[in-house]
Amino acid sequence: MTVLAILGSRNPNGQTAQAAGALREGVISEGGQYEQVFLPQMKIERCRQCEDDGWGLCRKEGRCVIEDNFSSLVDKVEKANMVVFATPVYFSDLSESMHAFLDRLWRTWLHESGKERVSGKPAMGICVAGGGGGGAPACTVSLEKYLSGCGFDVVDMVPVRRQNLNMKLSILKATGKWLVKGISIV
Ligand SMILES: Cc1cc2nc3c(=O)[nH]c(=O)nc-3n(C[C@H](O)[C@H](O)[C@H](O)COP(=O)(O)O)c2cc1C
Repeated sequence: MTVLAILGSRNPNGQTAQAAGALREGVISEGGQYEQVFLPQMKIERCRQCEDDGWGLCRKEGRCVIEDNFSSLVDKVEKANMVVFATPVYFSDLSESMHAFLDRLWRTWLHESGKERVSGKPAMGICVAGGGGGGAPACTVSLEKYLSGCGFDVVDMVPVRRQNLNMKLSILKATGKWLVKGISIV
């Protein structure tokens, strides 16, 4: 079982990374493999809304015209058994880098050749409100909408706020174990 974690934070020591790290512990402890990428370190432009009607190659061919790290990351998503999307909460919503990636992924899913790459793949979301602590539930709703829109089978969503981070770390460790051992028997 290979778990790919896609983080929308730029801080490898931040709260989002801590949350993903707890999940990683659970995955590794059950013999799973874990890889993580930080979106702000990658070159992923925002959607160009290529044509006057707002569409582009995404709808015609299930791929994006922009030549950056998007397509290689979609390759990783396709190869993984399970994908975890972990974002810091910005303005009660996803971080900009997470928006940019998922906006483009959603569009390619609208074509059959894009759809077959991720459709039905198990995925989960983690939203970490590390400031005042507000907005984690709203961000979770937003991220779930994106993941469902992209065709993932959303198996869990975990809102986290600064005030409950330590408690949620133990839940995320248990979730990591469950992703490896539990999900197939649900
Ligand atoms: C632009 C921006 C908007 C933010 N909005 C919120 C928010 O709505 N609620 C909240 O609790 N924290 C908010 N924060 C704080 C981040 O959630 C916090 O810094 C978080 O720890 C960042 O994650 P990281 O530690 O993984 O980098 C915001 C931070 C930034 C930079």
